[in-house]
Amino acid sequence: MRLDKFLGITGCCTRSEAKKRVRGGSVTVNGVCASSSDAQIDPERDEIAYCGKPVIYRKYTYIMMNKPEGVVSATEDGRDRTVLDLLPDGVRKAGLFPCGRLDKNTLGLILLTDNGALGHRLLAPKSHVEKRYYFRSKFPITEAEAARFASGLVLEDGYETKPAKIDLEGEGDCGVITLVEGKYHQIKRMLEALQNKIVYLERISFGPLTLDPTLARGEWRYLTEDEIHALENH
Ligand code: URA
Repeated sequence: MRLDKFLGITGCCTRSEAKKRVRGGSVTVNGVCASSSDAQIDPERDEIAYCGKPVIYRKYTYIMMNKPEGVVSATEDGRDRTVLDLLPDGVRKAGLFPCGRLDKNTLGLILLTDNGALGHRLLAPKSHVEKRYYFRSKFPITEAEAARFASGLVLEDGYETKPAKIDLEGEGDCGVITLVEGKYHQIKRMLEALQNKIVYLERISFGPLTLDPTLARGEWRYLTEDEIHALENH
C-alpha cells in the first residue's frame, strides 16, 4: 500500500497533505524518516509513526457521521445524495456501508463501516442494540401513553413493538425514546399509533456510541480506538 494512502485511511492526514508531512519529516517507517509519500509499505508489518506516535493500522474503517436532513442512508441512490456521498474521495471506499438506516428527514448518528460481520451482528434483531433518539412530537404525550411504550405498542400492520422507553421532557412534547429494534419508520409509526406525529427526530446514540457534539450536521470523523473497542465487544 502507498504511504499516503495509509496515512489517509488511518486518519493521520489527508492523502493530499501526506506529501508535505513526509517532506517535513513527520513520518517514519520502521524508525527511519520516510523519503517519499508514494513509497510502498506493508501495513501489517511495517511500523509507521506520525509526529512521533505509532499509527495503529486497522483492517476495517469505522466512521461516525452526523447525518443531515435530505440525505439517504444507502450506498447509492438514483435520485438523492447518500451518506457515502458526504465522504471525500480517498475516504469513501468500496465495501463501506451505513450500519442501519435513518429516514431521509431523520438526523444524527450513523455508523459507516466496511466490517460486514460486525455490521451484521449489530443489526441482527436478536442483538437488541439500544438506539436513543431525541424527538419532538406534534402533541404532548401523556404518562398513560408513555406507559404503552413500555408494554409494547401495536402498529397499523399488527406488529407489536418490543418494550421501549420514553423519557418525556418539557411539556411532554419532546424527550428521548430508546429502542432495541429498528423496524421501518418505527418511531413515526409508534407515534401514529397514539394519534400523534413526529415533527423532529435525531439519533443521539447507537449501542456504545454517542453522537459527538463537536460534529456539525454532515460532518464525520473516524471512531477512536476506545469506541472501536466498545463496538467490537458490544
Ligand atoms: N424511527 C423512525 O421513524 N425513523 C428513523 O429514522 C429512525 C427510527
